[in-house]
Amino acid sequence: MRMDLGEPVQHISTALDVVNRGAPDGPVVIARPHRVRAAADWFLAQFPGEVFYAVKANPSPWVIDALWEAGVRGFDVASEAEIDLIKARYPQATLAFMHPVKSRRAIRRAYEQGVRAFALDSEDELDKILAETDGAKDLTLIVRLAVSNDAASLPLAHKFGVSASEAPALIRRARAATEEMLGISFHVGSQCMRPLAYKQAMLEANRVIVQAGVVVDIINVGGGFPAIYPGMQPPEMHAYMREIRDAFEEMYVAQNAKLWAEPGRALVAEAGSILARVDLRKGDALYLNDGAYGNLFDATHVHWPFPVALVREGGSNAKNAPFRFYGPTCDSMDAAAGPYMLPADIAEGDFIEIGMTGAYGVAMATRFNGFGESRLVFAADAPWPTLFVTDAPEALPAEPAAPVVRLADRKGRQRRSK
Ligand SMILES: Cc1ncc(COP(=O)(O)O)c(C=O)c1O
Repeated sequence: MRMDLGEPVQHISTALDVVNRGAPDGPVVIARPHRVRAAADWFLAQFPGEVFYAVKANPSPWVIDALWEAGVRGFDVASEAEIDLIKARYPQATLAFMHPVKSRRAIRRAYEQGVRAFALDSEDELDKILAETDGAKDLTLIVRLAVSNDAASLPLAHKFGVSASEAPALIRRARAATEEMLGISFHVGSQCMRPLAYKQAMLEANRVIVQAGVVVDIINVGGGFPAIYPGMQPPEMHAYMREIRDAFEEMYVAQNAKLWAEPGRALVAEAGSILARVDLRKGDALYLNDGAYGNLFDATHVHWPFPVALVREGGSNAKNAPFRFYGPTCDSMDAAAGPYMLPADIAEGDFIEIGMTGAYGVAMATRFNGFGESRLVFAADAPWPTLFVTDAPEALPAEPAAPVVRLADRKGRQRRSK
């Protein structure tokens, strides 16, 4: 796991301060902990259950600290490194090991470190968990159910999740294996554009629980909560909460079970941006000092539509024109087709702020080709739109219609549809 390098170097007002004070040679990660706190405040107040931040979305220490300050005490971890990271910073945090396939060593070490909640989607994984915890009876076992990802811009289906037909038997076995809590989880896919998807997944969970005929203590609605990107304006976040509340009331377990969620993207997306420099311009192609193997994996590999802005003292009077980006490595896949709309006079030495990169940005960076070192600065502004409005609208439409822009999956195959 790679994180932002070094300690905070500067506190700035806006990205322009970095340019005016002399930017480093590599890309700059602009961090806005106040936006993490605002998102977490909202989520903790509005989500009717316990919140476990999905550390994978952004494991930067400044993110973890901001979440903790806001009152987040639960963390969804997927690896030993993520466990170590949170435990070292906040030993009293509650960790849930939500990766449905774990190494035996990771299970054992997690249990030794006090982790009690483990996800699984197969009998074999249940056997591994029981064996590596010496048949512990104090486990919280969470069975992950496969649900539709049709409402997600970045579907996560197929890899994990037990089918509805096989789930009842697995749920019964997991129930028998623990004297503590049993939960059902699912993931509706990342950047879920339709609140109703949560309700449908919860009602699907309800059906398998009824078939299993056992008591379930936790309904974990997973991640998938969206952020605002160009061309992807999700419905109000309140609509998501409303569907979850409505569905929970309809569930057989509602009286005794509690709700969990594992938001990643939604809590951190707006809190980060990247300041990249143009190292060369060839026509409509801009060669940047950050790219696919740095902080911009999703821009290149899944064609994620991040907002961009020229950061130049005095701005530009030129009209906007479409541009493509190339990253600094020698791999020809280090390319983002965009199109990114920027002033037509953009030139070598100019800086571009690429916004909404707080989720799955620094988290996915590598050191390929000797690049990937980013500097970290803290900014006080909030230049990108937010979904975290405090007041619930008086009346929300029954099912706010948001178009699902289906992006390429993380293997790079393009899957734009609908
Ligand atoms: C188990 C699990 N929970 C939560 C998340 C966070 O999802 P999101 O960032 O879409 O909220 C993920 C993302 O891959 C996940 O795999």
